[in-house]
Amino acid sequence: MGKNEKDEKRRSSFTSGIGFVFAAAGSAVGLGNLWRFPYLVAQYGGGIFILVYIILALTFGFALMATEIAIGRKTQKSPSRAYGAIHKKFGFLGIFATVVPIIILPYYCVIGGWVLKYMVTFITGQGLSAASDTYFSEFIAAPVQPLVYFAIFLAATAFIIFLGVNKGIEKITKVLMPLLVVLSIVICIFVVTIPGSGAGIKFYLLPDPSKFSLMTVCSAMGQMFFSMSLAMGIMVTYGSYTKPETNLSKSVNQIEIFDTVIALLAGFMVIPVIYVFSGEAGAKANGPGLLFVALPKIFEQMAIGRVVGILFFVLVFFAALTSSISIMEAVVSSFIDMFHITRRRAIIFAIVIAIVLGVPSSMGNGLWANFTILGMDFLTFLDYLSNSLIMPFVALCTCLLIGWFVGPKTITDEITRNGEKMGRRKLYNVMVKYVAPVLLAIILITYSLAQFGVVTM
Ligand code: PHE
Repeated sequence: MGKNEKDEKRRSSFTSGIGFVFAAAGSAVGLGNLWRFPYLVAQYGGGIFILVYIILALTFGFALMATEIAIGRKTQKSPSRAYGAIHKKFGFLGIFATVVPIIILPYYCVIGGWVLKYMVTFITGQGLSAASDTYFSEFIAAPVQPLVYFAIFLAATAFIIFLGVNKGIEKITKVLMPLLVVLSIVICIFVVTIPGSGAGIKFYLLPDPSKFSLMTVCSAMGQMFFSMSLAMGIMVTYGSYTKPETNLSKSVNQIEIFDTVIALLAGFMVIPVIYVFSGEAGAKANGPGLLFVALPKIFEQMAIGRVVGILFFVLVFFAALTSSISIMEAVVSSFIDMFHITRRRAIIFAIVIAIVLGVPSSMGNGLWANFTILGMDFLTFLDYLSNSLIMPFVALCTCLLIGWFVGPKTITDEITRNGEKMGRRKLYNVMVKYVAPVLLAIILITYSLAQFGVVTM
């Protein structure tokens, strides 16, 4: 098979609109929703963060997702060439978009390893000990264990990519994702019944304007990129696989809503409970460990907590796996594109990079805790670099490219190619041309100032 033929084959791999939605949702729904969202809610003021997040997702998230998917379908190219095909001055964007998954993959696998550890803990009947206050901090600080789990998670991801069995995993996920939703709802209902959770639910749902700051917007924006797999070329790639007749407008709505609902459910599970146990300050203090500290406490209270715990961590594990597969696939395919190497080599290359950056990410919580960059441990630094700097930059350039260089019509025409209605077309135009670029510029400036201590994070 010639290269073009192969490309053709690969690019038409979504046979139905819903298949595309599931694949994109499989990439979008993952640790971003379940792990990252709740701890940011705790960090940045509860309800006010939620409000800002939802507004951003419905306006900006929608606009950017539609843009990226349309760029992919229009150009039929992978991100490293797609931006350049839209306008030759913007070819550099492909490189930046490619760098993001390379940075995310290592630390994503570290957190994936944590999920695996908890899954094993619950399966082996030690769920009760996981509910103790120091279980999590002791685990991530241990010299060997977190590295082993990281290695297993990375190997599982690489193995699936290597065998090319993503399709099989996607099929399993189609069954597991709805299950995850149902189980999450059950846990949320249980949370409501925990004595004292009312105050926590209020903190979670009621926006308190006094807690609003520029950092609320900045962190919500970074979270949105991460959670919806935006500003890193992934949606461009998925867009290039969709058929001309797929209704993109509808698909974007579905992915966006699904992703946000899962995040909201995750927050609802975690925040009220941790609020009961340790108050707002305690919830904040947990930082990235929040999910792992809070959930065992809920399961401990449940009569069938062990079963629920097993089921829940298995589902989270699969959600994390489908996302890490999509991240690694992005890395591998851009390596193939950029360096013209075989798929096998590209996979090995991706694994090496993941280990080189993943080991310090993991060790930063323990033996290498003294090694910090800009005051952050290595994992936090990688997260910051991708979500707070490179992704806003990619998004800003994408908006300038579409809004000012080729015009929003390029995108809206692609989306309405088969005469579909595009509900938020006016909103879209205003977003890409004006609102989004200004907002993104503010964000990038804020983060830069924060480095000089002018703004506190
Ligand atoms: N969006 C995924 C999540 O929420 C993470 C992800 C990041 C997926 C980057 C693909 C690329 O977990």
